Order: sequence, then structure tokens, then C-alpha cells
Amino acid sequence: MVAEIIDGKKIAGEIRTGLKPRLAKLADAGNVAGLAAVLVGENAASQLYVKMKSKASEEMGMAHWTIQLPEDVSEARLLQEIGRLNSDPKVHGILVQQPLPSQIRVEAAVAAVSPLKDVDCFHPVNVGLMLIGRPRFAPATPSGVVELLMRSGNDPSGKHVVILGRSNIVGKPLAALLMQKAPGANATVTIAHTATKEIAAHTRRADILAAAMGSPRFLKADMVRDGAVVIDVGINRVPDPTAKGGYRTVGDVDFDAVKQKAKAISPVPGGVGPMTIAMLLSNTVSAGEIASKAAGPAPP
Ligand code: GUN
Repeated sequence: MVAEIIDGKKIAGEIRTGLKPRLAKLADAGNVAGLAAVLVGENAASQLYVKMKSKASEEMGMAHWTIQLPEDVSEARLLQEIGRLNSDPKVHGILVQQPLPSQIRVEAAVAAVSPLKDVDCFHPVNVGLMLIGRPRFAPATPSGVVELLMRSGNDPSGKHVVILGRSNIVGKPLAALLMQKAPGANATVTIAHTATKEIAAHTRRADILAAAMGSPRFLKADMVRDGAVVIDVGINRVPDPTAKGGYRTVGDVDFDAVKQKAKAISPVPGGVGPMTIAMLLSNTVSAGEIASKAAGPAPP
């Protein structure tokens, strides 16, 4: 079997198109949805991700700001900046790009963002709401994975999903989303991680595999059941003398080999990456709608 390629760029485009009438409605009420990204330090990957988020906001006609802080910024100064964004009515969504330097506690940064502007869905209150099945925002990458599955005709309901990786950004919230008794979920979920014994015994039992452990080409063909659906969440830069710049971006899946066995597979790049951005934009529109509702009708 040669897998169907799940085109994240195309599906993300459909989601972005679906946001346009909502943005137009907000604009009619005098509101431009706005996203603020806080970037600490000079991490090249983080700089690129924030640039892509800003570019996507610009393309959608949304307002956007990047707040660049130095690598050695104190936690207190970062929290002060987040507080300023929390009280700015033009800012509907706030994200603090991770990773953060060691002097800053990630939990302090995520808890400082107003839960009503937390478009990453990292605030403990929003994580809790999602876990109990009453989400305010859906975490961007995990909900992007769900949308990829649903829109490629691979509803996870009743399926066994094996997630590789237990990060707070992908593995744990993806498990929380997929286990809900809800449309786009209803799956039986296994999380495998660094302490899992005989990992291939788990992955071979999966109907759907989500690889999110940050290990280049970790998932090999012999770890995948014939006809499984494979979603690759990894983004890794590996040396490649044949590539422009000497590096190539690869996922957590050994794509060329696994493609021969899977029923469907998402590529890297062009799979989950564009979906993360589309879902972030979607959450920012939702945050704009929440703010617009709270403010009441526009003055005549
Ligand atoms: N670092 C890696 N993924 C993400 C993300 O989705 N949001 C933020 N803020 N930082 C990240």
C-alpha cells in the first residue's frame, strides 16, 4: 500500500478561508482581531515560527505585534510586558513563544497570560476546561492534528490512537482532546514516551499514530501496522550536504519507508506545521469574538 498524502497546506487554507466571514463580522462591529507574540532571545527556530505567525496574521488582515525581549530578560520584566498586553483592548490573543531561557519559569509565563487571551491554550484554567470537555480555546498543534484527521476522512472515533511523546504542548493535550466523548474524538488513546518499554509493540497496534517526540525519523516502517494513518508532528533540522544551506527539515517519521505501509500520512514540511498556524488564527478570531461580545454593540 502506498499512502495518500494528507495535505496540511491545503487543509489549513480551507480553515483560513472559513475564518474570513467571522473576521468580516468583527470588522463590521469595529473590531480588528489582533495577535501579540512575545519572543524572548534569539532562538532561530522560534524567530522563524513567530515570523510565520505574523505573516499569516497579515495575510488574513489581522492586527499583529511581535514583542522582542532580550535573552537575559528577567521573569518580572516579562510578566510586566504580558500584563500590559492583557490590558490592551486591541490585543485579543497573546502567545509567549517557547522555549524560554532558564531564568524564566514556563509555568509563570503561561499563567500570566489572561485566560481570555490565551490563544495557545497553555493557561492552567484553559488546559483544565479542555480536559473536562468544555474548551474555551483548543491548543493549536493538537487541534490541528484533529482537523487533519477529520478533513482527510480519518475520524478517530472508535480508533486506537498511539501518541509518541508527552509534552505539554503536543502529547498531553492531544491525548486530552482525542479521549473526549465528542465529535472529532472518541478514540482509545495510548501515550508512549521515553520510559515506555517495547515501544514498537504499542505502535504496531495503532490505527492512528501521532509522532511528537522530537526525534528525527524515529518511527520506522517495521513499527507501523499495514494501513495505519500516520501524523508527523516533528520538526527537526538534520545535516544534509545535498540540501541548500547544508540542512534539511525532517519529521519524527521515516517518511519514505512508512509511506509504503500506511493508508495515509502527513508530510514534513506541509503537514501539521501550516495547521498549527491556522488553528492559532482561529483561536485569535474566537478571542476577538469573546472580547467583542463582552464589549457589547458598537456605538452608532
Ligand atoms: N513552541 C513550540 N510550539 C509552540 C506553540 O504552539 N506555541 C508557543 N507559544 N510556543 C511553541
